[in-house]
Amino acid sequence: MMLKSVRRSNIRFKLVFSLLAIVFLAGILSIIVGLNVINTNLVRDAYATVRANLASASELYQEEIDNRSRLIQYLAKTPEIVRASAAGDRAFLFEKLVQIKREFGFDIVNVVNADGTILVRANNLEAFGDSMNGYRTVQEVRRTGAPIAGTGVLDYDDIAREGGDLAVRTLIPVVPTSHGRPRPSPVENRAMVIKIAAPIRDGGRLTGILYGAILLNNNAAFVDRFKRLVFKGETVDGRDAATTTIFLGDIRVATNVLDAGGRRAIGTQASEEVYRQVYERGTAWLGKAFVVDDWYISGYAPLYDFDHKTLGMLYVGVLKKKFDIVVRNTTVSYLLVILISTILALALSGYLINLYTKPVKRIIDASTEMALGFYHRIEVDPHDDEDARALGQAFNGMVDAIEERDRQLTDLAERTILKSEKLASIGRMASGIAHEINNPLTGVLTYSSLLLEDMKGTPYEEDLKVIRDETLRCRGIVRGILDFARDTKAERAPADLNALIEDSLRILEKHVTFHNIRIVKALDPKLPWVNVDAGEIRSVINNLAVNAADAMPAGGRLTIATSVEPATGMAVISVADTGVGISEENLGKIFEPFFTTKDRGQGTGLGLAMTYGAIQRHGGQIDVQSKVGVGTEFIIKLPTR
Ligand SMILES: Nc1ncnc2c1ncn2[C@@H]1O[C@H](COP(=O)(O)OP(=O)(O)OP(=O)(O)O)[C@@H](O)[C@H]1O
Ligand SMILES: [Mg+2]
Repeated sequence: MMLKSVRRSNIRFKLVFSLLAIVFLAGILSIIVGLNVINTNLVRDAYATVRANLASASELYQEEIDNRSRLIQYLAKTPEIVRASAAGDRAFLFEKLVQIKREFGFDIVNVVNADGTILVRANNLEAFGDSMNGYRTVQEVRRTGAPIAGTGVLDYDDIAREGGDLAVRTLIPVVPTSHGRPRPSPVENRAMVIKIAAPIRDGGRLTGILYGAILLNNNAAFVDRFKRLVFKGETVDGRDAATTTIFLGDIRVATNVLDAGGRRAIGTQASEEVYRQVYERGTAWLGKAFVVDDWYISGYAPLYDFDHKTLGMLYVGVLKKKFDIVVRNTTVSYLLVILISTILALALSGYLINLYTKPVKRIIDASTEMALGFYHRIEVDPHDDEDARALGQAFNGMVDAIEERDRQLTDLAERTILKSEKLASIGRMASGIAHEINNPLTGVLTYSSLLLEDMKGTPYEEDLKVIRDETLRCRGIVRGILDFARDTKAERAPADLNALIEDSLRILEKHVTFHNIRIVKALDPKLPWVNVDAGEIRSVINNLAVNAADAMPAGGRLTIATSVEPATGMAVISVADTGVGISEENLGKIFEPFFTTKDRGQGTGLGLAMTYGAIQRHGGQIDVQSKVGVGTEFIIKLPTR
């Protein structure tokens, strides 16, 4: 039982283990593949976002220039400015320019005469009359008469002339930066400006130029507004999610990237790699960069001057954390889904394993019970699947069959034991009576015989004959009983059974009852000699043959055969007739002493009893098979050793 339960749990263990292995393998695979896909996609997404941000920043920058250009052109056409410029009304213009500068956030607003000399500066009423012909914008408007706008640089002297505070704002000490390009000059003194120049016309005649510029150096408001426009104030963990920067060459001139000290990182350099790709080759650069204290996904795009030459760069950077949070959230949800489906898969496989191993387990349990001698039937659960039910029903069918066969075997054994015990006790009683009767019978016979001698010729002679004959018959009966229950050891000697049979038949054949009976002999010549009491065996053959003849009053066939039983080596004698047969009811009684179906005086019912006793004493066995109206066969088996 121990062994069985171990093997059973083994099957279960193997099943559970295989399913677990499959579930975990599938789980791990989908985690690896899934996370990879999530990561790849989100990283690609992050870059796409930054690329889009960079594009909109570039567009916004260009729009800024266009809007301001339109504004300057519009103002240049206003009648008051046209009139004042034509009339050289400096006082009026100064007031007007200061108002424009303040209202629209310009750093420089000038009105230039048609010959290129300054008429009025919003920054300084006193400084005028100097030439602005060195400025690209003024040259262009004077040459073409058309407005011009774009990004450019002003030399330090030029910006200083425009205003002292502007000069101060312009100077940017270069902060050497690792990975940065080696720089010869320690200070950037050029001014990066958005500048617009529009013609002022009186009728068709160019009377002047309206000039406006925004200094980008140290222009925090400009980049911050830019950042707001592109990123709409997004934050991550309370920090701004993004930064914007304007580069002049590779130097940060305006930025909201902060350095380690929390100040704007003005004057720091872009890496040489970025500089080469964006500034020198004019293509955008996208990548991950560690800026000051955190990782950013950064994008750089070139900024061009009027001649479409690279002048600087526009930068947007988005905190990598922003994307990491998305990755984290997506990963967590994904792992949760995997976890839940794994748990579901495990629960389901547990249920299925139970479902499929339950019937097997029940059968193993029931078989164990069977082996212990109990007829254990399985409860067939209607909820089980068809195979399991069929298995259960087949098993129960087997239990039924085994129980029935056991019952029959027990019955037969009981009957056999009862029969032999009954015969033995009858035998003991009968032989006791026979012994007691034998002596008085001898006395009666002796005296009745003597009396008969004396009374010959008298009327008593016939009566005495009856007494003597009946006494003789009684003695025959007593002998029969004693033969059946004889307890003395008979003389045994090796004998040829075939010869014994031939002897008996030779005498019997002559008897009148055998006249219309055909005797068939099928004697096995290889039959070994058997140690027997020859007299007893002859009586046995006689009894069986006479019974057969009695059963065939109208004639028939008597077959006597001998053989060796292969399995046991016993000698077998079969006596078969084609007579009336024995009824089922009588079949169990024929070996009892005095059982006879024959008329009074015809049979005593001792023949078969004696036969049974003799065969028992020889250690053999006798069986009978009979069918009413067909015939009867007696089979005797005798041990050959
Ligand atoms: N070959 C047979 N065919 C049919 N019935 C038989 C046969 N042998 C025995 N019997 C039945 O068994 C009974 C008992 O037989 P058994 O030889 O013991 O006694 P009996 O032949 O009646 O009398 P007895 O042999 O003492 O003269 C018979 O009366 C008969 O009914
Ligand atoms: Mg008989």
